[in-house]
Amino acid sequence: MDGVSPPGLSASKSRAKLWPLEAHTAAKHEILRRYLRRWLPIMARWNKRLGYVDCFAGPGEYAGGEPGSPIVALDIACQFLAPGPLKPGQLTTVFIEAKKRRYEHLVDRCATFRAAHPSVSAIEIETLYGRYDEKIADVHTRLMNRASGSGPIFYFIDPFGVKDMPFDLLRLLLAPERSEILFTFMYEEMNRFLTTPEFEEHLNLMFGQPDWQTLRALNGAERKRETVNYFKERFISAGANYVVAFEMRNARNATDYFLVFATKNIRGLEVMKQAMWEVDKSGNFTFSDYTYSLGPMLIEPCPDYAPLQRQISAAFLNRRNVDMAEIREFVLTSTSFYRFMNEALQPMIARNECYVETPSRSARPDRDSIISFVTRAGTPMRLFGDT
Ligand SMILES: C[S@@+](CC[C@H](N)C(=O)[O-])C[C@H]1O[C@@H](n2cnc3c(N)ncnc32)[C@H](O)[C@@H]1O
Repeated sequence: MDGVSPPGLSASKSRAKLWPLEAHTAAKHEILRRYLRRWLPIMARWNKRLGYVDCFAGPGEYAGGEPGSPIVALDIACQFLAPGPLKPGQLTTVFIEAKKRRYEHLVDRCATFRAAHPSVSAIEIETLYGRYDEKIADVHTRLMNRASGSGPIFYFIDPFGVKDMPFDLLRLLLAPERSEILFTFMYEEMNRFLTTPEFEEHLNLMFGQPDWQTLRALNGAERKRETVNYFKERFISAGANYVVAFEMRNARNATDYFLVFATKNIRGLEVMKQAMWEVDKSGNFTFSDYTYSLGPMLIEPCPDYAPLQRQISAAFLNRRNVDMAEIREFVLTSTSFYRFMNEALQPMIARNECYVETPSRSARPDRDSIISFVTRAGTPMRLFGDT
C-alpha cells in the first residue's frame, strides 16, 4: 500500500451533491464510533498492523457539514495516537467510492482533516476511486500480504442497495481469523423487489444461492424475521462465528435496513452488542427516525432483565459447577443481552435460584466464579417464574 492519496481538491471545485444526515445515519455512525472507540485500543495493543476499509465510503461529509463515515473512523483513530496505544504506521485505512464527484469530495475532506489533525499523518490513508466489487479483492490481498503482517481488518460495507454485492466476496473477506464486517443490509429494497423477476440475479449474487426464494411465501413480520435470520446464516456459512443485527426504521417507523455485524471473535461480538445497546437503551436493537422525531423521552427506557433470567435458568437448570465463561458465551450468542452478572445473576442468587459455588459463600458473581443452578441442599431447582 503506498499510502499516498491524490491531492485534495478545494471544496469549491468539488461539486458533489451532499445529502442531509438523517437520524438513522447518525445512529449508524454512533454505533460505528462506539465500537471503534473500544475495539481499536484493544486491537492496537495486541497486533502490529491493523486495517480499516470503508467499501462504500461516500463523499465524507453531509449537507449540514457533519462528517461521513471515513472521517468518523479517522477521528476515533486520532484519539488513540497521542496517548497511544495506536502507533505511527500501525493502522492502514482504505476508502472506496465509485461516484467521481463524491470521490473527489472525499479526497478533499481527507485533506481538510489532515490539515486540522497533523497527527493523522501517522495513519496510512488510501482513497480509491472505483467499485467495491472490482477493487476489494485486491485491497484485501494487499492488506493480508503486508511484509509486517496482516493483523485484524474491519470492513464497513454500507451500500444504498443490494446490487453488485457478491457473496463470494464476503467469504473472501471473512476467511482470515481476525477480519470483521459491518454490513448495511437494505431490507426495504430487497422486500420491495422480492418477487420482481429482474431482481433475482442481484439476490442470487448477494446470497450466493437461490434458496432465498422461499422467503417469498412469507409475509409481514415473519418475512422480516426469517429474512434477517437467513442473511445471518449466510454470514455464518461465509466464515463468521457470530452475527448480530440492529434494525433501522425510517420516519414512517417502517423497517429501512439492518446493520449486520459478523465476526469470529466473541469479544468483538460483546463490544458490538454493547455499542448497539448504548444506541438503543431498551435492548431491542432498533432505532427509529419516527420515535426520534417525537423528541426525547422523559424516562430513559429501562431494559427488562426478566427474559434473560428466564433464558439463563432454562439453559442451566440443575447444572452444577458452571464456569462463568460458559454463561457469558450463552448470554452473548443465544440472547439479545450482553450484561448479565449484576443485572441477571445477582438477583437470581438473591432469590436462591442459583448460587456461587466458588469462591464459596460469595454473594457477588465475578468473571472467575463457578455457579451452580441447584439449591444448596442439592434438590432440583424450579424454573424461574414457576410457583
Ligand atoms: C450509503 S452511501 C455511504 C455513506 C457512508 N458510508 C457514510 O456513512 O457516510 C453509499 C455510497 O456508495 C457509493 N457507491 C455506490 N455504488 C458503489 C460501488 N459499487 N462501489 C463503491 N461505492 C459505491 C455511492 O456513491 C455512495 O456514496
